[in-house]
Amino acid sequence: MQRDLSIPRHVAIVMDGNGRWAKKRFLPRFFGHKAGVDALVRLIDACSVRGISYLTVFAFSSENWKRPEDEVSGLMGLVAVAQAKYLAKMAKNGVRIVVVGERDTVSERLRKAWAEAEESTRHNTRITLSICFNYGGRWDMVQACRKAVAAGLKAEQIDEASLSRFMAMAHAPDPDLFIRTGGEVRISNFLLWQSAYSEFVFTDCLWPDFGEAELDAALADYAGRERRFGGVTPAVPVHAG
Ligand code: FPP
Repeated sequence: MQRDLSIPRHVAIVMDGNGRWAKKRFLPRFFGHKAGVDALVRLIDACSVRGISYLTVFAFSSENWKRPEDEVSGLMGLVAVAQAKYLAKMAKNGVRIVVVGERDTVSERLRKAWAEAEESTRHNTRITLSICFNYGGRWDMVQACRKAVAAGLKAEQIDEASLSRFMAMAHAPDPDLFIRTGGEVRISNFLLWQSAYSEFVFTDCLWPDFGEAELDAALADYAGRERRFGGVTPAVPVHAG
């Protein structure tokens, strides 16, 4: 059956605005991140119901280590909170979790949490949630090049297709729709390689407030775009995954 091309197969999101959401309520920033996790869990279902097969979110960037120590440890601790609250439900609801990012520089506890989340959901097929954590688009390109060299690829064997196989998002097609909440209009080192032909939607909505209505507005915007992938006529995306 032909897929409905007006619906993106893969949506990627920069979940920005948690801190401001908390500040508006005179709460510490951590509460904004906590509300952000709840918003994410609600959105997974909303995406799946609308026929979106891949959802990828920016949860912690390579640069977020520069934040105050208590905020960094709060975000790390939130992984355990989210796991206890939601992992069993996601596993049961058909969500496959893939964690993308540098693992060597996070704690053993976090590595175990990621391994458990991936292992307990790996047979699920309803929707793939990629959580980019300790991730940066530049880091991804560098690690892909290193892997390609370690695998013995010669310079003349390196091209877009061969390098793509070593990128951290090789399990998914490129994102069709890239959303950033929170009012800033920049990419912030997210999916630099993969978003080459994504459609971008920027919204002022703060991430914890992003719900079905905001998703539908972004999808309506996407449905009205003409994707040409560098050509002159509307084209069908070439998907890797
Ligand atoms: C940006 O808002 C948000 C982040 C740096 C973190 C996003 C993380 C989550 C929603 C939690 C995800 C966690 C798991 C375990 C999946 P900001 O702090 O920059 O907000 P501001 O721009 O208003 O200050």
